Amino acid sequence: MKTLNGIPILGCGTFPLKGEEAYRTVRTAIDLGIRHIDTAQMYGNEADVGRALRDCGVPREDLYVVTKVDPDNLPADRFAASVTRSMDDLGGPPDLLLIHWPPAAEEFDGAVERLVLEMQKGMTRHIGVSNFTPNMMRRAYERAGGKIINNQVEFHPLLDQSALLAEARKLGVVLSAYSPLGRGAALKPDSIQDIARRIGRPPSEVVLRWITQQDVVAMPMTTKRENALSNLASLEFELSPGDMAAISRIGRPEGRLINPGWMAGRWSE
Ligand SMILES: NC(=O)c1ccc[n+]([C@@H]2O[C@H](COP(=O)([O-])OP(=O)(O)OC[C@H]3O[C@@H](n4cnc5c(N)ncnc54)[C@H](OP(=O)(O)O)[C@@H]3O)[C@@H](O)[C@H]2O)c1
Repeated sequence: MKTLNGIPILGCGTFPLKGEEAYRTVRTAIDLGIRHIDTAQMYGNEADVGRALRDCGVPREDLYVVTKVDPDNLPADRFAASVTRSMDDLGGPPDLLLIHWPPAAEEFDGAVERLVLEMQKGMTRHIGVSNFTPNMMRRAYERAGGKIINNQVEFHPLLDQSALLAEARKLGVVLSAYSPLGRGAALKPDSIQDIARRIGRPPSEVVLRWITQQDVVAMPMTTKRENALSNLASLEFELSPGDMAAISRIGRPEGRLINPGWMAGRWSE
């Protein structure tokens, strides 16, 4: 599978799965050939994911595991211990460790420095951020001496992320699309339904292909084997430039679906 900054272009999301459901979802994804698994301290499923990684029969070095530091664990007295816990639960260092949500302004530089330190200690192979605006992403990139390789953000046809994507490309940072199907909402626009009918692919595959064809990583979550297979099949065709442009015209700056209270007023920072 194609990789971007070493990250397999299609991944397996695991939120909000826990316990056996998280375990089974990761095992199925890996059985079908998906090698990139996304988890987070916040999801409370790192141990279930770790068990699936251990049992799956695929060598760990062939898998790409992403986890994220919870906002509560960003302070100096909690950061390193939380990463050690993640590593223990996952059965080894992740390939990519992200700051899950932007730190408060006064904690920003310190949190990025702690992230870099974890990589230098060998607690992760690579580092990145999540939910960072263009300015935050640039600041983190500079503070980390250019070591930030990824920004994981909400990305689907209903949300215009073109400014963020342009800034990421300038820096050589790869975007990963979370909620790539907009939790189902991004499958509904007429133009997506029309393209899907015309090319004989489900709307979900059209949406995922629109994402990956822009060299953005897509990480849909599915508990269903047939949907995971379809998500993989989205890599097997190309959308025409006209169809790409038609889908890109749908997005609006206010099309965000994931907007927790702690980010209120910060998306324009
Ligand atoms: N960094 C962050 O702050 C952040 C925030 C949110 C999410 N994430 C990550 O991104 C992952 C994905 O995002 P998400 O779960 O919010 O949204 P999503 O992947 O856009 O949507 C998930 C929904 O789509 C359905 N689905 C999946 N594949 C499908 C297919 N081929 N056809 C039809 N329906 C399909 C799933 O149902 P079925 O199970 O029935 O298939 C599920 O209900 C999460 O699991 C998590 O790992 C990160």
